[in-house]
Amino acid sequence: MELKRFRNYQELSEFVAGEIADSIKNKPSLVLCLASGDTPKLTVELLVNKINEEKIDRSKITFIGLDEWVGLPPTNSGSCHYFFKNNLIGPLQLMTSQYFLFDALADDLRNECLKMDKFINEKNGIDIMVVGIGMNGHIGFNEPGSSFDNLSHIIDLDEITRSVGQKYFNEKVELSQGITIGFKHLLNAKKVFLMANGSKKAEVIKKTVQGPVTEYFPASIMQQHENGFVLVDDDAASLLSNPD
Ligand code: PGA
Repeated sequence: MELKRFRNYQELSEFVAGEIADSIKNKPSLVLCLASGDTPKLTVELLVNKINEEKIDRSKITFIGLDEWVGLPPTNSGSCHYFFKNNLIGPLQLMTSQYFLFDALADDLRNECLKMDKFINEKNGIDIMVVGIGMNGHIGFNEPGSSFDNLSHIIDLDEITRSVGQKYFNEKVELSQGITIGFKHLLNAKKVFLMANGSKKAEVIKKTVQGPVTEYFPASIMQQHENGFVLVDDDAASLLSNPD
């Protein structure tokens, strides 16, 4: 794992968008898995602009959504589905065969997990995974206590995730379960970027980078990834000892 520090959110996002765009140029059939949430928002916007402005071939890329709130329709503006449809899949005009997002309304959610695992395997794994970090140290919906061996799975959401998650919605919603890609896929991904910005993430970044590796603090798994990068702005790095 490597830590990289940026002056601010803009520079952090420009770096990640640039890395992804360059990777697509080198490998047009890139398999990209992205988290939704506030952190990668600007990265997605910059990436889409870059692909469109530089006319980068997007016809062979594959896109995978990291997770979804169980029970939410894709029309809900706080859903991951909604975010990616409107900010990435739509603007890049990806074909349906080029992406997979969890259907959080599926009758058989277990089967939805199997479909995701099969999709990832058929694409020979994820090339680049971009994730954020929750206030409880989760990645995707891999909540504290999630096994590092998990493939895609359904999980009861932690109290912190249920309350912090309200920020994505216009009105109060009942958030009880999530469906998510598990850590086995993260460990198998060829490259992982964990992004964090703002002082509110300083504590969880310190635990991620300098704390013990434990399933009780999920993001600590980053220390086990040989090609894992923890990318932070100055505020999120503020509690690290010897941050440089
Ligand atoms: P955020 O969410 O990017 O909105 O802070 C991160 C997460 O919960 O994974």
